[in-house]
Amino acid sequence: MSRRNLLGAAAIVPLATGAIMGTASAQTARSGTGKTAIVTGSSRGIGAAVAKRLAREGYSVTVNFVVNRDMARAVVRDIESAGRKAISVQADVSDPNAVRRLFDENDKAFGGVDVVVANAGIMRLAPMSDMTDENFNRMIDVNLKGGFYTMREGARRVRNHGRIITFSSSITQLRSPTYGPYAASKAAQELYANVLAKELAGRMISVNAMAPGLVNTTLFTDGKTAQEISGFVQRTPHRRLGEPEDIANVIAALCSPDGMWVSGQTVFANGGVV
Ligand SMILES: NC(=O)c1ccc[n+]([C@@H]2O[C@H](COP(=O)([O-])OP(=O)(O)OC[C@H]3O[C@@H](n4cnc5c(N)ncnc54)[C@H](OP(=O)(O)O)[C@@H]3O)[C@@H](O)[C@H]2O)c1
Repeated sequence: MSRRNLLGAAAIVPLATGAIMGTASAQTARSGTGKTAIVTGSSRGIGAAVAKRLAREGYSVTVNFVVNRDMARAVVRDIESAGRKAISVQADVSDPNAVRRLFDENDKAFGGVDVVVANAGIMRLAPMSDMTDENFNRMIDVNLKGGFYTMREGARRVRNHGRIITFSSSITQLRSPTYGPYAASKAAQELYANVLAKELAGRMISVNAMAPGLVNTTLFTDGKTAQEISGFVQRTPHRRLGEPEDIANVIAALCSPDGMWVSGQTVFANGGVV
């Protein structure tokens, strides 16, 4: 929706919702001073591209990592050299206390949060008969529980008119061998997003699950031969892997005023591979 239409809509809302639309102008005012985004798992890969792109859109950004501190700091430097503000915070999303601390650090630095992107995730593949307890449990801890802890904190703290975006995967449709537990941990994100969008009714917060296809990061390429990767590329209509920026572009669109009407959805950004 264009800004003019948004204001037009404000003029016809009943008085009872006036307080909500009143916050819209506060929000607009705040965009001049910079809104804030927390992107989990933004030291590299898709998360790093999302953090940099949201910074370009005017957000101050909290960059999160679990082990790669130097990479997270490099993302912060990149954002700062583009004239925006960023901090990096170490926090394992599988630990609810760490997730609360991540949001606390963000609030201390920037005074609140407008956008949460629950991007952090891991992928461990094996046929179900060979999947170890350790790999299964870690995927559940990071993806299924970590996605929940991040969205729960987002539900508590994101300001009205904000966005909460979690990360599913197009594998929830492709359902390929060896991907069972990973796909299950990602399918949960689609349910979280749909339910939370309804639970936050009245706050004008849009909640969605982003479902990328094959994206050129180590999560996808590690453990695959060049030949295997080229086999995947041949199956994509655009004849290439997605790049992290392809996904960041869609996230930026969802976070823009024009993206607010998309809520409770799983947004498949996969170049047509499914
Ligand atoms: N790449 C694809 O083809 C693809 C396709 C569909 C969906 N996805 C989803 O997209 C998201 C990003 O994937 P990616 O390809 O960018 O992955 P990636 O390149 O492996 O990057 C993963 C990021 O998550 C962080 N991370 C991992 N475990 C964490 C934890 N326990 N707590 C906090 N941060 C953690 C990593 O931090 P460190 O650097 O500190 O390790 C890193 O910043 C994931 O949710 C993934 O499932 C990816």
